[in-house]
Amino acid sequence: MLDLQNISRVYELGGERAGVFDISLQVPSGVLAVLAGPSGSGKTTLLQVAGLLDSADSGDVILEGRNVSALPERERCKVRLSRLGFVFQTFNLVPVLSALENVMLPLQLQGEPEAAARARSIHILERVGLGDRLNHRPGQLSGGQQQRTAIARALVTDPILVLADEPTANLDHAHGGPLMALMSELSRERGVTFLAASHDQAVISRADRVFRLSDGRLEAEA
Ligand SMILES: Nc1ncnc2c1ncn2[C@@H]1O[C@H](COP(=O)(O)OP(=O)(O)O)[C@@H](O)[C@H]1O
Ligand SMILES: [Mg+2]
Repeated sequence: MLDLQNISRVYELGGERAGVFDISLQVPSGVLAVLAGPSGSGKTTLLQVAGLLDSADSGDVILEGRNVSALPERERCKVRLSRLGFVFQTFNLVPVLSALENVMLPLQLQGEPEAAARARSIHILERVGLGDRLNHRPGQLSGGQQQRTAIARALVTDPILVLADEPTANLDHAHGGPLMALMSELSRERGVTFLAASHDQAVISRADRVFRLSDGRLEAEA
């Protein structure tokens, strides 16, 4: 479970205040939650704080009952690598590596032996429907296949929380729904929490929980 308590992250530019203000929300384990809201409403800012990529000015990030926002950077880095997964709008795969090598990367960073890393990576790539694309490089895959590779890479370390910033924004409209359906299935199957930011109604409609942001503030929970 992810518990954000009174998170504020404020940018002051020329007398204007932007960012997110006093946001509290709880996402239970094994669900797909969506942060919804128009461009500029604070979705990316909040995801970066929740993902320990950025620090809040005030408030706490509680993960599995532990206040991870208060940890020194070295410890936060460990939490990011071992407990969190990330999926980005632009996929962020390494272009010269195959799908399999991309998925193996976080395991190798953790020092997992090559044979074990390979076996786990093949298993998760098969689960996301890419068992016949293991040796393709990102440029040889469709956008939807690249994003499924990125999801496999995010999940291969068995994280408890995967943060996805506009994961369908670079996909054809027809691919957004199926990708969210896959994340929803995986959340239940693996007990992993997905928190995705999106302003796409097709994406929002697949969520178990929706948190709506407006001008950096939380509106209502549906
Ligand atoms: N590094 C930054 N410096 C100054 N202002 C920022 C910065 N990052 C985001 N903002 C501002 O914070 C607000 C929320 O941005 P963001 O979280 O990117 O929204 P969203 O992801 O919903 O489009 C916007 O007004 C944006 O201009
Ligand atoms: Mg954004």
